[in-house]
Amino acid sequence: MDSQSAEPKKTKTANLEDVRKVVAEARKRAEAQVKATGIVSAGAITSETKKSATVRVARTEMPGNIMRPEHVKPVSLALPPSDAAAAPGAPGADAAEAAPAAAQDQAPTAETVPRLTNPIRKRPKAYGVEARRRYREENSRRLTSLESGFILCPGCFSHIVLHDLEPLHVAQCQSCGTMEFVPLRIGNFWLFEPLGGGSMGSVYKACHTEMTDQVFAVKILGRMNKTDPVAIESLLREARVAKVIGDHPCLVSCVESGFQDDEYYYAMEMIEGNRLDKLMDQRGRLPEVAVYRMAVDMLDALQHIWSRGYLYCDLKAENIILSTAEHAVLIDYGLCAEAGQLVDPDGQFISGSPYYLPPERVWGMVESPASCIYSLGMVIYHTLTGEPYFDAPDIRALMERHVAPDAEVSLNRLKGLRPGLMQVLTQMIRQDHRERFQTFDEARGAVKQILDEMARMGGR
Ligand SMILES: Nc1ncnc2c1ncn2[C@@H]1O[C@H](COP(=O)(O)OP(=O)(O)O)[C@@H](O)[C@H]1O
Ligand SMILES: [Mg+2]
Repeated sequence: MDSQSAEPKKTKTANLEDVRKVVAEARKRAEAQVKATGIVSAGAITSETKKSATVRVARTEMPGNIMRPEHVKPVSLALPPSDAAAAPGAPGADAAEAAPAAAQDQAPTAETVPRLTNPIRKRPKAYGVEARRRYREENSRRLTSLESGFILCPGCFSHIVLHDLEPLHVAQCQSCGTMEFVPLRIGNFWLFEPLGGGSMGSVYKACHTEMTDQVFAVKILGRMNKTDPVAIESLLREARVAKVIGDHPCLVSCVESGFQDDEYYYAMEMIEGNRLDKLMDQRGRLPEVAVYRMAVDMLDALQHIWSRGYLYCDLKAENIILSTAEHAVLIDYGLCAEAGQLVDPDGQFISGSPYYLPPERVWGMVESPASCIYSLGMVIYHTLTGEPYFDAPDIRALMERHVAPDAEVSLNRLKGLRPGLMQVLTQMIRQDHRERFQTFDEARGAVKQILDEMARMGGR
């Protein structure tokens, strides 16, 4: 190991406070990573086993009483007025829908897996002059060392040589013992910090070798399912859906996807901010005004997705980032369903987050915007009270609560909050979908009215 090089010292004298902060944060992150992963496999970031995580439960494992009651009639679905058909790469469109090479039993190459790219949008508030300058500085430093084959130890600034180290694992500095994450290069992206992940993939913060004035989030497959055709198709499909959905201030946008350096990847803009579930963990409940603003943003986002021919189907606090650029932003298009196929095609599994999933999913019925509105209502309740609306000792029992015959709307815990809220929330979370708001715009109008009233009264 090459230690005590001149370069880090330069950095040190240039801005000591900043360097200290970065070092402290990096150390904390690396230690948390070690704790979470037991060092051995940072590639497969352990998923949270919370009841809000997305799960997949076989119907045969559910108790017998999840039959749809007679009085709940199936949705007669008005499909979205389709500007979807006009959208480039809309569902069913040829090139973007092409199956990946792996699914066709060919060895994938950068040429055979369609590479999708999108014009890169920069959120004006997140990417102001100052932020871009900061990113450029940080990324240039990072790239200088990465392209020369080493990373800087955050503990003692010595060089940790990348050669021979396994990317996406945590390495230990031989000089001071500090743990540091080993980045991976995919095409022009360097994945340098884990952000999160679920059952199939993991997401990493990344910098780009040319576009240095911003950061990205890149999703790749878990190390165990890197070659699994189902996982591959699911990752690439998510990128295709993102491309069809396109640009919206409350939605994450896809930057690029494809296959390079032996990895399938899906690169997105990085949303800087706080994930809603983490904020709830820290603060318990959130202020009303923040919750209503988030809800309006989410209803805008859901409506935009619907107008592009998809229903979102995975609304939960983990998929919402309260961005530092003021909007709430929805991420993760993994469960988006085409508007024409709003029921699990094989009907064997119930997928979703047990806290928030709509009764229609449990009953195996066709879903509609009213189903997403139900999930959003559950999220609103959770964020306002700090408690989930339904709870149960285990996941199956919790899923069952959403369809229990006695699952009456009871909003006692909301007493003392805005008048008008109870009525709006009731209309979001009724068990029978026909008694809920039927469109995103209707629900948005109702929530916006509460916000406007708060503004009129100067309330917080
Ligand atoms: N564009 C992004 N910007 C910032 N963080 C992100 C982004 N995409 C994903 N993440 C982080 O990674 C986690 C997992 O990503 P997600 O797409 O939700 O994957 P999964 O399908 O495994 O739930 C998110 O909960 C979030 O913390
Ligand atoms: Mg997710």
